[in-house]
Amino acid sequence: KGQKWDQDALRLSHQAWVYNGFILALRLPGNASVESAPLPVLTPHFLGSAEDLPKAVVSLEPQWNRVLEKDFVTLKCQGTSLPEDNSTQWFHNGKLISSQDSSYFIASVRVDDSGEYRCQTRLSTRSDPVQLEVHTGWLLLQASQWIYKEGDRIHLRCHSWKNTPLHKVTYLQNGKGKKYFHQNSDFFIPKATLKDNGSYFCRGLVGGKNVSSESVNITVIQDSTSSKSPVFLPGYQVSFCLVMVFLFAVDTGLYFSVKSNIRSSKRDWKDHKFKWSKDPQNK
Ligand SMILES: *[C@@H]1O[C@H](CO)[C@@H](O)[C@H](O)[C@H]1NC(C)=O
Ligand SMILES: *[C@@H]1O[C@H](CO)[C@@H](O)[C@H](O)[C@H]1NC(C)=O
Repeated sequence: KGQKWDQDALRLSHQAWVYNGFILALRLPGNASVESAPLPVLTPHFLGSAEDLPKAVVSLEPQWNRVLEKDFVTLKCQGTSLPEDNSTQWFHNGKLISSQDSSYFIASVRVDDSGEYRCQTRLSTRSDPVQLEVHTGWLLLQASQWIYKEGDRIHLRCHSWKNTPLHKVTYLQNGKGKKYFHQNSDFFIPKATLKDNGSYFCRGLVGGKNVSSESVNITVIQDSTSSKSPVFLPGYQVSFCLVMVFLFAVDTGLYFSVKSNIRSSKRDWKDHKFKWSKDPQNK
């Protein structure tokens, strides 16, 4: 069958655009054309269907996925594109939007901009969604993540509408004050523990007005790698332990033999000194 394909391929006076082993487009005689069709005869080692392409990735700048109205937000799409076609497709709640740049900039977000964003480039498949939540109000508690593992750094921000100056700021966990700042500051917990799990909000003064954010849940989960029971040590860990024990034993043996050598050489040295100091008296 390969032979047949070969001959057919040779007979066709086609033009193909090849990039990284992927055949992107093929112009056939007449008006027929094949888009993004990998040809087995031409690229046997790079058999690429759309599923083999890497997935694009959407990221937010700044990082917050909960924002207040009038904030600016940039969505960035990372995906491979063609040198001659670097256009990006953007989807908001599944609908294609007009922006074709790799960055989708929203200068002043509105509640309508909330929802799921995905992107895609010519050589990547559609990304996983990024959820943007646009809120109204004076204050919004933002977090770098909503789910942290034990030991992660928690980063919280008490964001005021249009970045209006905010004073006497308290971050509260489960209704109790956890951190106070005279001037508004981000709140970092360098190493999350299970005790940091809970419902958080922040409050402070905007002008003379006492304002609060809504509560959000911050989840801290146990780090599965540190909670492994030693009873269920996998084989390579057991052999690693045995090697360590062996090395320790060899090391200890070495230590004692070196130590006794030193002791005996010290004795020699003392004896020698003793003899040496005695020598002049003998003369
Ligand atoms: C973590 O906090 C949430 C509330 O924010 C609570 O529903 C959940 O039970 C807590 N989990 C643990 C393990 O304490
Ligand atoms: C804001 O009001 C709460 C009670 O609703 C109070 O506990 C808190 O001290 C007030 N904050 C400031 C900065 O005055």
